[in-house]
Amino acid sequence: MATVIAIANQKGGVGKTTTAVNLAAAFALKKKRTLLIDLDPQANSTLTFFPLDGITHTIYDVLADHQIDLAGVVKPTKTPNLCLAPAKISLAKLEAMLVGQFDAPYRLKDALAPCRDSFDMILIDTPPTLGLITVNALVASTHLLVPIQAAYYAMEGSDDLLETLARIRSRPNPDLKLLGVVLTLFDKRTNLARDIRKQVSDVFGDKVFKTVVNKNVRLEESPAYKETIFTFAPDSSGAEDYEQLAREVLQRVH
Ligand SMILES: Nc1ncnc2c1ncn2[C@@H]1O[C@H](COP(=O)(O)OP(=O)(O)O)[C@@H](O)[C@H]1O
Ligand SMILES: [Mg+2]
Repeated sequence: MATVIAIANQKGGVGKTTTAVNLAAAFALKKKRTLLIDLDPQANSTLTFFPLDGITHTIYDVLADHQIDLAGVVKPTKTPNLCLAPAKISLAKLEAMLVGQFDAPYRLKDALAPCRDSFDMILIDTPPTLGLITVNALVASTHLLVPIQAAYYAMEGSDDLLETLARIRSRPNPDLKLLGVVLTLFDKRTNLARDIRKQVSDVFGDKVFKTVVNKNVRLEESPAYKETIFTFAPDSSGAEDYEQLAREVLQRVH
């Protein structure tokens, strides 16, 4: 049974997609059969691998009307062991579509069930909201990974995120675990980054990963070349940080 990790934080620009894509690639390089599910209508994870015009079926078709199985939208990427369930902007229609449906929070969990044995690791990239799409990700997951940007107001919104985690645990998914919090866009030269690391540790304690993801321009550039960091700049600090984070994650889930 796959470990299913939702990567969520309702703030935008904190490194969710960068983490989802490169952590998924790091698992794949470690020979884990890995599936990345793009659950953000912005489709940034999808765009890292494929141009959108070549994609006919997306996760929306799976979740909106059960017309297609998840397996029917999963595409292998050029990274061995790494598959993607793509999204397009059409996913933005999903929330309105699901309102009032009795199984609305369970659509992704149900869709994943037949695929859980085909993968070792399933990662879900989520949009910057705590709406029904993110709720679907949290209900379908075994673990939550929260990227926090090492910047002013880093912790703003974390109360709401923890409240959502508690709410999901109280009913639809009591087994959901907080896997950890990873500091991203970290600039180790600054006092601010160190202060924020302390603030985050005061709140999350040993849930904070030892690994931080340093600011690295290569991480910013690689999606434009349709590459993960491991093919675009294998010797960069970004590749090193995500490889180390993958190791730490695997230790925590096993
Ligand atoms: N460690 C990093 N170093 C430099 N740029 C980064 C890093 N992580 C993310 N970025 C850049 O910051 C922006 C926001 O990151 P992204 O992963 O898209 O965040 P989110 O998915 O949370 O909105 C993107 O342009 C991305 O390339
Ligand atoms: Mg994103």
